[in-house]
Amino acid sequence: MAEYSPGLAGVIAGESAISRIDFDSNKLIVRGYDLVDLTDKASFEEVAWLILYGDLPTQAQLDELNATLTAERELPPQVSAILREAPPTTHPMALLRTAVSALGTTDPEAKDISKEATLRKSVRLLAKAPTMIATGHRHAQGLEPLAPDPKLSHAANLLYMILGEKPTASAVAAMNVSLILYAEHGFNASTFAARVVASTLADLHSAITAGIGALAGPLHGGANEAAMEMFIDIGAPENARDYVLDRLAGKQKIMGFGHREYKTGDSRVPVMKTVGRRLAEEASETKWADIADAVEKVLDEEKGIFPNVDTPCAYAYYTLGIAIPLFTPIFVASRITGWAAHIIEQQEGNRILRPNHIYTGPEGKVFRPLAER
Ligand SMILES: CC(C)(COP(=O)(O)OP(=O)(O)OC[C@H]1O[C@@H](n2cnc3c(N)ncnc32)[C@H](O)[C@@H]1OP(=O)(O)O)[C@@H](O)C(=O)NCCC(=O)NCCS
Repeated sequence: MAEYSPGLAGVIAGESAISRIDFDSNKLIVRGYDLVDLTDKASFEEVAWLILYGDLPTQAQLDELNATLTAERELPPQVSAILREAPPTTHPMALLRTAVSALGTTDPEAKDISKEATLRKSVRLLAKAPTMIATGHRHAQGLEPLAPDPKLSHAANLLYMILGEKPTASAVAAMNVSLILYAEHGFNASTFAARVVASTLADLHSAITAGIGALAGPLHGGANEAAMEMFIDIGAPENARDYVLDRLAGKQKIMGFGHREYKTGDSRVPVMKTVGRRLAEEASETKWADIADAVEKVLDEEKGIFPNVDTPCAYAYYTLGIAIPLFTPIFVASRITGWAAHIIEQQEGNRILRPNHIYTGPEGKVFRPLAER
């Protein structure tokens, strides 16, 4: 029996050709490329193709992907109805999880788990995710959902449908960077959850629904929402020290900080911080970036813990005017690519994921009939 590692820390749970962290250079390598290097060179759509198909697309392949993504943005009526009829208090992550699951009931290839069908389903789902997020959000606000705009990129259309106006070039560039940075990150909790489901030879929608459920929690993707709520709570950079010290004294976590893998800083943070700071300066409101920097300073001094990518994404999204409960769903609108690649990879060399545990319960109990209990 292998040694027990709480939280599976350090456990090698599989092989993958999709991404790795190079700890020597502190780079996230995706399909052989430095992901951060792609943020100012490639569109999210190019990176999506890279993750799904294994290398950057040719112009013809990108044209094909863009054509499918724009053609597939509309939702089936059954899915629209779910988004329309959900109680307006439903968290957008719960709504998105439900809508993705429902989409699986309408997809013509739902049960086909061949690589080709799974790729086609992934692209259809990727196209529809922003429409699901925006439709649910606008219904909850009492607003009519907007039709997707086929002239806009994935990032631009996402912003347009959520905010109700054509985004600026700077907003689109910022969203493009954040989507690229969120697209793939190895055997994290949600990807592992998706792989566990895929390992039973279940279909793509089942595995991605599990991934969304796992991503929602504040220790994972939900941290971008929790971090922004915390920055609002802190209110001003000069309050950060007392706030952080108080939380640490109470053994509470500071959301948007810390990482299981990165111990010297998240490789995705510097580029996203630059993007977030630029948006803040353009909006003449640097308070949130300043608060985040102040928290970073105290946490570094006190614990040697650094921000993860959720921190700069949080204040970048907030500066763009995006409602906080949509932050983690936007993460989903990108991570679908990473999950789908892992689902395909898992099923290609599949062995069902079924670990062991150490039993800590009672032994030797003797049955007593109901009347005697
Ligand atoms: C990401 C995270 C879940 C990793 O967890 P992990 O690898 O299991 O690390 P642990 O929770 O065991 O933390 C190890 C130590 O660092 C501390 N720590 C880790 N992250 C911390 C944080 N965000 N705030 C305060 N302390 C933190 C723990 O309290 C613990 O300290 P101790 O040894 O003095 O008890 C954790 O850092 C965290 O909860 N961060 C906040 C949520 C977040 O931003 N998640 C998004 C991740 S991308």
